[in-house]
Amino acid sequence: MGEGTKATRIVVLGMGGTIAGRAERAGDNVGYDAGAVPVEDLAAGLPALRGRDMAFEQVAQINSKDMRLADLQRLVGRAGRHLADPAVQGLVVTHGTDTIEETAYLLQTLLAPAKPLVLTCAMRPATAVSPDGPQNLSDAVAVATEPGARGVLVVCAGRVHGPLEVAKQHPYRTDPFDSGDAGVIALVEEGRVRRFRDWPAAARHAARLQAFLRATAMPRVAWLSSHADAAAWPVHALLAAPPAARVQGIVVSGTGNASLHAELEAALREAEAGGVRVVIANRNGAPPVPYPQQPFADIDGLSPPKARWALALELLDA
Ligand code: SIN
Repeated sequence: MGEGTKATRIVVLGMGGTIAGRAERAGDNVGYDAGAVPVEDLAAGLPALRGRDMAFEQVAQINSKDMRLADLQRLVGRAGRHLADPAVQGLVVTHGTDTIEETAYLLQTLLAPAKPLVLTCAMRPATAVSPDGPQNLSDAVAVATEPGARGVLVVCAGRVHGPLEVAKQHPYRTDPFDSGDAGVIALVEEGRVRRFRDWPAAARHAARLQAFLRATAMPRVAWLSSHADAAAWPVHALLAAPPAARVQGIVVSGTGNASLHAELEAALREAEAGGVRVVIANRNGAPPVPYPQQPFADIDGLSPPKARWALALELLDA
């Protein structure tokens, strides 16, 4: 690419999900195979993409509930490569909604992209009577081509969420995501982006990128929850595992404002004394409001699934 030439290419990486889902009957919005339609076909005929410099790559073709470390490593690796290409303006990733918030967190914390890396998805399969994927993909491209846009974003139902806050909150609605008190970063209206706050910039684990890409397995981090009638036995069961299967970390979802059942807390303190890293998050997904007796530290106020990845990444080099 010549000096001064503008980066115009948008690369769409396909991971599967309902956006690429195929049902036997067009009216079926819940019984379908996620990850069936090739990524290039999802974009065919979309007016918002016509005449654009587009490229497509199928990185995986799966239901995101079945995401494996190898799939995420491949995505992070390919995204990093494309972002480094001076011809590339931005990336779009088509992905299942079920674990998109985990993938968004990983991509942001490891890559902290200076270009837009926009994840999008759908709640209805591509074969639905009225699929939501085509509009979401068009909106994602609008965000990926927005001047000044950067960082990892999740675009769904005309709303642009940040990677630290986004959480799936509904199993069926075509707008299943929420960003809590932080709110959305922007809206996409008729192909135009209306922004309310800064693009994401967090880069907590950028130094661990190579270690993540090389890992054959992530450090074992379990996720437990406090609840009425919680007890010590789940922690004791984890501690009783043979050394090769022993957990290195535990994320515990607290009730209310990071509170724990006394019996569970006592068992977690035993685990901590035995060398297990214990981190707290809120069962309701909101960042804890710090208080002197907070039983364990949280990580950046992250929700439990994101805190689990953050702790695993911290333990990777340990
Ligand atoms: C998935 O997460 O891959 C299936 C569900 C969805 O995309 O909505």
